[in-house]
Amino acid sequence: MIYHRKPDWLIRENLVTDETLFLNRRNLMAGFGAGTGLAMLGQAVDAAVPEAPFTPVPSLNAGFADAGRRVTVESITSKYNNFYEFGSSKRISAEAQKLSTDDWVIQIDGMVDKPFQIGIEDLIKRTGIEERIVRHRCVEAWSMVVPWIGFPMAKLVALAKPQSGAKYIRFETFMDTKVAKEQKAAWYPWPYVEGFTMAEATNELAFMVVGAYGKVLHKQFGAPLRVHMPWKFGFKSIKSIVKVTFTDKRPVGFWESLQKKEYGFWANVNPAVDHRRWTQATEKPLDSDDRIPTQIFNGYGAQVAHLYDGMDDLGDRLWR
Ligand code: MTE
Repeated sequence: MIYHRKPDWLIRENLVTDETLFLNRRNLMAGFGAGTGLAMLGQAVDAAVPEAPFTPVPSLNAGFADAGRRVTVESITSKYNNFYEFGSSKRISAEAQKLSTDDWVIQIDGMVDKPFQIGIEDLIKRTGIEERIVRHRCVEAWSMVVPWIGFPMAKLVALAKPQSGAKYIRFETFMDTKVAKEQKAAWYPWPYVEGFTMAEATNELAFMVVGAYGKVLHKQFGAPLRVHMPWKFGFKSIKSIVKVTFTDKRPVGFWESLQKKEYGFWANVNPAVDHRRWTQATEKPLDSDDRIPTQIFNGYGAQVAHLYDGMDDLGDRLWR
């Protein structure tokens, strides 16, 4: 992956909004509609930043109301993305608008009682939604805090009814070279794939995302459905999902198949194990010039550490 230590725009855009302002804005949107809220904050209208508020307004999960750091403002996170289908720079937000999310259907198959397809709206109706404010740590050592809207991955698993022999869940991104030009590049193993053990998939932290910042999901964030695993490096959080497969074979992720010594299956955030080309001991929040210490499991160890009991280096040794 291309690693930008200090992107040039960061200095200019280093105006931070704290969490209180974000929450006020959330209330504004709920009360007066998105247009009013955005106008009052003076945010420029930008095609890459959707204005459609998520309806109904999701309730904030009290267990994820405070990420311990301020929410990173939308104007920063929506302009600094990894979505290689649309290019290898961080500035793919405009290009990603080419993705049409109309009539989006997700295929559920593999070791399930009955394979089926489900439209994204139907899926959301079946699972319900909530909001969670969580930390995100990219393997490239930048980080952010985002208020995601979505539902626990465990609800998707329950809906799919996997057979008892299923050991892993495998996700696949759309494949369309007309829309995503980078998918013509034969040196990448398209489509993007990621996977987790069933224990990881049903952990309370595993989240399926359909919105952010009170709005329907931005295309550059991986609309209309992406994963977010807050204790793992960001490349595990696969975007724009079209297929969910239950299997007894460990899925090989997109980056893992390119370079397994740098981007392994487990990819748990671990400050003690450096990337081969840079330190993982610290990270740079997108809205700051200063680096901060990286926490084991990105600070979510209480919820997930037990999943890796007895595993050397949280499984990292497997990919070194
Ligand atoms: N999913 C797909 N389909 N394609 C990608 O290139 N990049 C991953 C992950 N999911 C990626 C993806 C990486 S490396 C990171 S850090 C996060 O998405 C970035 O999410 P963000 O752009 O919403 O910050």
